[in-house]
Amino acid sequence: MTGTPLTGDPSTLGEQPALLTVDGAVKRYRDRTALDGVSLTVAPGETVGLVGESGSGKSTLARLALGLLTPDAGTVRFAGRDPSRLRGRADRAVRGRLQFVPQHPRGSLNPGLRAGEAVAFALRLHGTLRRDRPAAVARLFEQVGLAPGLADRYPRELSGGQLQRVAVARALATGPDLVVCDEPTSALDRSVQARLLDLLTELQQRTGLAYLFISHDLAVVRHLAHRVLVLRHGRVLEEGPAAELWDAPAHPYTRALLEAATGRTPGT
Ligand SMILES: Nc1ncnc2c1ncn2[C@@H]1O[C@H](COP(=O)(O)OP(=O)(O)O)[C@@H](O)[C@H]1O
Ligand SMILES: [Mg+2]
Repeated sequence: MTGTPLTGDPSTLGEQPALLTVDGAVKRYRDRTALDGVSLTVAPGETVGLVGESGSGKSTLARLALGLLTPDAGTVRFAGRDPSRLRGRADRAVRGRLQFVPQHPRGSLNPGLRAGEAVAFALRLHGTLRRDRPAAVARLFEQVGLAPGLADRYPRELSGGQLQRVAVARALATGPDLVVCDEPTSALDRSVQARLLDLLTELQQRTGLAYLFISHDLAVVRHLAHRVLVLRHGRVLEEGPAAELWDAPAHPYTRALLEAATGRTPGT
């Protein structure tokens, strides 16, 4: 963890300068506008939930936040920097403060690397000395609730839930202040999902990291988000504290999402 101490206490969220600021972001793919002027902030220690149906622009926003894409208009800043321009040794520390947990860990983990090696590789990129890496890998495995023996397994020898924990350990390896999670539980069974969400919550309480947590499932976001934005056709339709949105959604679309997620009519 770098920078000022973070609390994660919801009562103080928003009083600190934002870690991530997206301002008026527009992103087009040829003739298709994926994002049409989206603004959001994530404060230190905060979890911002981003919900919307498939194709609403969630992953595009994640990739902008991570600096993997640049906006056609508008700006993206992480810790005051353009995340797409974090390069070289000098920016390594800042780059490590911004991390990612993808939807499909099987696709993002190198099939030829053992789980422990994948985490060690992230440590190496972050500049952890070779001799310190084994102990750091063991500590990270413990933090994410993985038995030490699993470090020797290849991705194909791990379950979806275990793979996601490896992905979380790899993200934690660089001491992030913000982890962008793009539908991290969508490919998991309900019970495995709940335990991963509990892990993410616990890690936040312990380390004060912030999440931009993306899901098409409002019920999942409700579990851990302090604040929720509803994205539709590349625009923010509604945003507010999770509890308020849950109890009194302003927009019929949000209401429909809630009903789909819970099977109940909001406010009842
Ligand atoms: N690389 C791409 N090239 C062209 N169109 C894309 C590309 N990526 C996403 N899109 C389109 O942009 C829109 C938003 O996609 P995406 O951000 O992946 O949404 P979500 O993650 O909410 O499902 C969709 O209409 C999708 O088809
Ligand atoms: Mg997506």
